[in-house]
Amino acid sequence: MSHSNFKAFVFDAYGTLFDVHSVIEKCNELYPGKGEAISRVWRQKQLEYSFLRQLMGKYATFLAITRDALHYACKEAGAELTEDTEKQLIDSYLKLQHYEETEEVLNKLQTYRTAIFSNGSFDMLNPLVDQSPFSSLLDEVLSVDEVKQFKPTPMSYQLVLDKLGVRREEVLFMSSNTWDIAGAASFGFYTAWINRQGKVMDELGVKPHYEYGDLRGILAHVE
Ligand code: LAC
Repeated sequence: MSHSNFKAFVFDAYGTLFDVHSVIEKCNELYPGKGEAISRVWRQKQLEYSFLRQLMGKYATFLAITRDALHYACKEAGAELTEDTEKQLIDSYLKLQHYEETEEVLNKLQTYRTAIFSNGSFDMLNPLVDQSPFSSLLDEVLSVDEVKQFKPTPMSYQLVLDKLGVRREEVLFMSSNTWDIAGAASFGFYTAWINRQGKVMDELGVKPHYEYGDLRGILAHVE
């Protein structure tokens, strides 16, 4: 695939452009010594609940699921969540740190269509993107909430084609989440796995087309 054929660079949000574990600091502030455990279980359950609700046909917004997963994580850690601490932790989820190379890379993609495509609902994506330095560098912020089908379902990735008006083989899709890369590759996107933690790819019957340690690797596909 020569780089000139890509018309759209599409990015997953959580874990790819934004660091979900930047909440550890706030977790530790509220529940000293329990921050890493709460953050890890919070993310694990947030994803699990989105997959399970998709399978059950019981869609709820990713913000509602994120709140439910937080309740589980705190209960399991023996951390008593109050209305105030829940609000502080959810607020920190709306202000996650972005990865340092994001703005530099998006700046070099301005002759292409650029978009976020996330399981996040707009009530959490919009504040998050708006507080970042690169909101003006994105043509679109797309949420599965428009079709109420979570990634990695094929119906969810179809939204990207409908909204950007491109063909699936014209999309280079970036995610740090192996399940998201597998879903996008199965759907027909070209995929760049942003493997920030040097993980092993899951055995899901498809491989990423490209693998990079951070977003800078995708600039190999830019004219
Ligand atoms: C996203 C999360 C699920 O879709 O990674 O942004």
